[in-house]
Amino acid sequence: MISSLRTASAILLLTAAGASAPVPAKVEYLIGFSQLAFTDPWRVAMNHQMEAAARKHPEFKLVIADGQRDDAKQVTDVERFIQQRVDLLIISPNESAPLTDVVKRAYDAGIPVIVLDRALLGDAFTMFIGADNKVIGCKAGAYVARWCAEKGRAPCNVLEITGLSGSPPAQDRHSGFLDGIKANPSVRIVASPTSEWLKEKAVPAAAAAFQANPDIDVVYGHNDVSSEGAYIAARNANLDVSRMLFVGIDGLPDPDGSIASILQGRLGVSYVYPTGASEAIEWAFRILERGERPPKKVVLGTEEISPTNARGLCAKYGCPAR
Ligand code: FRU
Repeated sequence: MISSLRTASAILLLTAAGASAPVPAKVEYLIGFSQLAFTDPWRVAMNHQMEAAARKHPEFKLVIADGQRDDAKQVTDVERFIQQRVDLLIISPNESAPLTDVVKRAYDAGIPVIVLDRALLGDAFTMFIGADNKVIGCKAGAYVARWCAEKGRAPCNVLEITGLSGSPPAQDRHSGFLDGIKANPSVRIVASPTSEWLKEKAVPAAAAAFQANPDIDVVYGHNDVSSEGAYIAARNANLDVSRMLFVGIDGLPDPDGSIASILQGRLGVSYVYPTGASEAIEWAFRILERGERPPKKVVLGTEEISPTNARGLCAKYGCPAR
């Protein structure tokens, strides 16, 4: 550890007790963030938000490691952070099972651990921060159930493009969606190929699904980029995209995000999936400097983005529409 709360408060006490020239306590905390990848827009936003939040705490030195979507690489990154004796570890794990053990080793070594967005197995970490993916999936399913009823589609065929199967948001967005569509028995999922969260894999996965089943009414992508990839595949297959609903999750307020996409008429609805980055830094501060015991889980909210509120959200978050 670079320093500790006890040392810091001792220095402050001495100064308050009447040292002639107050000496500012020099406290620095090393925070290691094991990010599963640097390459997609949501991860880029998460890194930027975390860096911005950390800059507000000059005593925090934040180091972000790129897991490159590779469980083994991410395990090595965490091992390095343990060796460096970081004061606190933040991790957004690629897949749960392969990362659980190394995080437990960090936690057992006395390093506070904040897990973000994708959960681990067991409970060997300090706290988890993230949105409830079951709730989001359920909201998406309920929207689809209503849309299908309003459009009179029966059956109403859904192509689901799933995330990486070993990452809990994919499991929860699937099961939540099943709950949501129960409201309309005409809705049926005709195929659920995976994009592993990636647009470049969503395009061929959706193309194959459209070839096998051209009569798709709804595409439910587990994230926005998967739905956008399916939109490209639908256009390539000469499907009438104006008759289809494209559903996504993430809701980034940037030019390539779903708020802009909804305004431009590609995606029909999406759900904000907050990164939790600033909350993680806030909790790092409370744990390291205030000595607080955090709750085991902090659940972040979501927001539905549809054509009815996209313009307002764009103004609120400042997303420039192209
Ligand atoms: C980014 C991402 C997001 C998704 C989240 C799920 O890597 O795929 O698009 O919402 O991870 O963990």
